[in-house]
Amino acid sequence: MKVAILSGSVYGAAEEVARHVKQLLGDASYEVFFNPRARLADIQAFAPDAFLAVTSTTGMGELPDNLMPLYSEIRDVLPAAWRGLPGAVIALGDSSYGDTYCGGGQLLTELFAELGLREVLPMLKLDASESVTPESDCEIWVKSLINALGK
Ligand SMILES: Cc1cc2nc3c(=O)[nH]c(=O)nc-3n(C[C@H](O)[C@H](O)[C@H](O)COP(=O)(O)O)c2cc1C
Repeated sequence: MKVAILSGSVYGAAEEVARHVKQLLGDASYEVFFNPRARLADIQAFAPDAFLAVTSTTGMGELPDNLMPLYSEIRDVLPAAWRGLPGAVIALGDSSYGDTYCGGGQLLTELFAELGLREVLPMLKLDASESVTPESDCEIWVKSLINALGK
């Protein structure tokens, strides 16, 4: 199975989580696409069977700049070939931001719904005010993702 990781990061924490998940999925024999500056054409060329978003939140509930071009392209096109594919979201945020906590992950969850992706697991929220080890914190959730995706 081919999994495309869509990743947004300002200071690198979400990118590190995405790299770690790429490794875990690779160890489980998935073929993984991950490029923090990916554009729509790159993802379409990869022809994924499943999607994983790993993004932090910046500003007041906004997406990191590196994900904005891809996010906008996907929203404009809403590729019909992706409809019905499995998808899941890992959101890094900080609960001290209150209402905008994990707003970036929320935007990706909404985009996945617009695309008609099948949400195979509830969004994982990684709270920077609770833990400084988001990479190890995501591992149990990633195991559940692997179970949900199958081979
Ligand atoms: C300027 C700034 C604004 C932020 N705004 C939010 C926010 O609105 N909601 C939230 O949940 N986290 C917010 N955060 C917290 C980050 O999302 C969190 O620290 C995350 O782990 C950073 O990941 P990154 O290194 O991949 O950017 C903000 C952080 C900064 C520095």
